Amino acid sequence: MKIGILTSGGDCPGLNAVIRGFAKYAFNQIKDVELIGISDGYLGLITKDVKKMQPSDFSGILNVGGTILGTSRQPFSKMTDEDRNGQSKLDLMKKNYKALGLDLLVTLGGAGTHKTAALLSYEGLNVIGIPKTIDNDIFGTDVTFGFHTAVDIATECIDRIHTTAASHGRTMLIELMGNKVGWLTLYAGIAGGADIILLPEIPYDPDTVVKMVKRRYESGKDFTIIAIAEGAMSIAESKMKKSERLASRGGRATGTEGLARYIEENAGVETRVVVPGHLQRGGSPSPYDRLLSTEMGSFAGHLANDGVFGVTVAMHGSQVTYNALADIAGKMKFVPKDDQRIAVARTIGISFGDDR
Ligand code: F6P
Repeated sequence: MKIGILTSGGDCPGLNAVIRGFAKYAFNQIKDVELIGISDGYLGLITKDVKKMQPSDFSGILNVGGTILGTSRQPFSKMTDEDRNGQSKLDLMKKNYKALGLDLLVTLGGAGTHKTAALLSYEGLNVIGIPKTIDNDIFGTDVTFGFHTAVDIATECIDRIHTTAASHGRTMLIELMGNKVGWLTLYAGIAGGADIILLPEIPYDPDTVVKMVKRRYESGKDFTIIAIAEGAMSIAESKMKKSERLASRGGRATGTEGLARYIEENAGVETRVVVPGHLQRGGSPSPYDRLLSTEMGSFAGHLANDGVFGVTVAMHGSQVTYNALADIAGKMKFVPKDDQRIAVARTIGISFGDDR
């Protein structure tokens, strides 16, 4: 069996651990297996940038961050026409899949990667996906690999900000990754003891945030910790088109700095913004993610061995399983407003900026 494997979209801790889990399963369990590493995501399949991998290539990478295969963001609609030669991107990938003699393509990636994986499987290619992302937003799986490592890192950031905020009596906004969904901010916010958590799914009222900060000061707490997702928006911003929102923020991609200035002016407290950014995606996966990645990678190998294609690996409870790509592609797993963790947070006085 000749299997191509690629990693696509933003990197995250655990990619190498999944690649290793899959490869070790394949070399140990699948007859006459050949593994072809495809460079830089779907781009490598379009340009036929590939390399035959040896078992030794997968040694010593369990705890290594990033991806040994390289990755790129190539949303289907945004790819250039350079290599097209009159063909669609799908045609090119299909052609190269056949030219390489692949029996299966394994794709490690997020929502965009799964959308493309589904399109390729509709074209008749054998595809197995594995759900990666620190955002934890892939539909149909309780958890994606990389998420919990990012939660660990983001929580440590909040912990560190906590002590300096308390020392100076400042309000600190920690802007965490998550453009469309707030899982990372929700988990790290609660784990880091944030006073206010602002998510893309719950538009906030800036005056409610100010009121909360003031209330803390009045009760003798002279610092406030706000965990805010990059995609969080005020109620007013949530009614705007993306371009209007960008203009109203003076060209800034997020509303964090604007909210900080609003708090400073209206609550009269020194307010600072911290953006951990790509630190949340870098470095070694946590033991939890190493285990999850190994389970997901080896399970994908098991699916390959059984000839189960057009699917993506998923975790339901503590059971590793799979979903049909057709059932999950194009969907996202948002934080539901009635999520249990949100309810718990509210009971202990954490504000989501929507209460009064
Ligand atoms: O999808 C993962 C993610 O880290 C998001 O949380 C974030 O908005 C985005 O990627 C950043 O992407 P890039 O690394 O391309 O700037």
